[in-house]
Amino acid sequence: MTDINTLKKAAFGFSQLPDDQIIGFESSFGAHHYGRLKLVVRKAEGAWLWDINDKKYLDCLAAYSAANQGHHHPAIVKAVVDSLQGNYGSVISNVVYTDALGLFLKRVANLVPQMGLRFGGNANKVLPKNGGVESVETAVKMARYYGFKAKGIEDGKQQIIVFTRNFHGRMITTISFSPTPKYKEGFGPLTPGFKIVEFGDLEGVKKAITPNTCGILVEPMQGEGGMYPAPKGFLKGLRELADEHDLLLLFDEIQVGLGRTGKMFCFEHENVVPDGIILGKAISGGLIPVSVFVTDSKLMDMAFQPGRDGSTYGGYPLACVAGIAALDVIEKENLVENSRKMGEILKGKILDIASRSSHVKEVRGSGLFIGIEVKDGDAMVFCRKLLDIGMLANDSYGHSIRISPPLIIGEEEVDYIADKLEKVLVD
Ligand SMILES: Cc1ncc(COP(=O)(O)O)c(C=O)c1O
Repeated sequence: MTDINTLKKAAFGFSQLPDDQIIGFESSFGAHHYGRLKLVVRKAEGAWLWDINDKKYLDCLAAYSAANQGHHHPAIVKAVVDSLQGNYGSVISNVVYTDALGLFLKRVANLVPQMGLRFGGNANKVLPKNGGVESVETAVKMARYYGFKAKGIEDGKQQIIVFTRNFHGRMITTISFSPTPKYKEGFGPLTPGFKIVEFGDLEGVKKAITPNTCGILVEPMQGEGGMYPAPKGFLKGLRELADEHDLLLLFDEIQVGLGRTGKMFCFEHENVVPDGIILGKAISGGLIPVSVFVTDSKLMDMAFQPGRDGSTYGGYPLACVAGIAALDVIEKENLVENSRKMGEILKGKILDIASRSSHVKEVRGSGLFIGIEVKDGDAMVFCRKLLDIGMLANDSYGHSIRISPPLIIGEEEVDYIADKLEKVLVD
């Protein structure tokens, strides 16, 4: 049987290749750039994953928020399958227009609150890419060009302020301003032009601003960096500093946007509107990589004219179809409200468990984005135990168990999560 037929068979049941063989293939033929837990997933549906023995696991990682709508959401699958069967979806040369792109751009531009209010409210514009890190780079380009063109900073001298424990992806520019040595050691020369300030330290930001500063790039709640919400008043303070010093305030909501924290956008917890936002992951419902950078029209037009940016697959029809369907699901199924409601119940249960556990140091987060920091700093010990008893979770920053299931879960799944956490955290 050819490999493709093996996989086709899997579509109607489970592939019968044994786990060890699949792990062996990865080990022999794949880069070892992820440390994996020992689970070979054979099927994924809604909030659940299955192994070859039909054992179920509740997916409390949801591909780092990419599967917010649940795996293989029927409406998103249907939209994708319909478009492919209708000979509509394949990549089209970017020298011509497609209706899918037009409709997707309009949808995203209207979904995001008006960015960059101080630029006059000229309506949002959207630049589409594939993986999240690509749109982070778009945002960096935007801030640098703003510094050069609008502020008169000498090209090459622009500086952007970023934060401790930041995570914005793993390409050269984003690792260049990562504070994590493992991400960047030996990969130099790195991209200059970034200053790292303590997350939450407004005085530090003030001190870091120079005449060459053009922007501030921040996650309104840190995901990979240990599940830390911005301290109260921090985002507002950044907004004030950005206004005072004419800096672009850019929020990376790739992981925390689109309902994850119980609001459509994480910045809505503080009612602070940035000048640009980066979205990814859940924007296409876990089927096709899509990311976007959204900003005010005046800024977008200033920085990006033909030839100044581009991506062969960025905004191709299939991605746009998936994107529109994925956003429909978030709205029609009230996933933002469900995330808030289920998150509140779940956090209450986790706090109760924490009060009886000798292992928990702190519980943080909102909506269905909850971090449980453990006292001895090794969250993976607990994640492995959770996997054994039917729940997939992993660590954030080593010290915290990240609980971020698909936003479709109900009270039954909330009870399931609490039951499993009770088993591993309470002696
Ligand atoms: C906040 C944030 N920014 C950027 C990225 C990078 O996204 P991608 O892995 O799709 O390139 C991630 C991925 O986890 C993220 O959490």
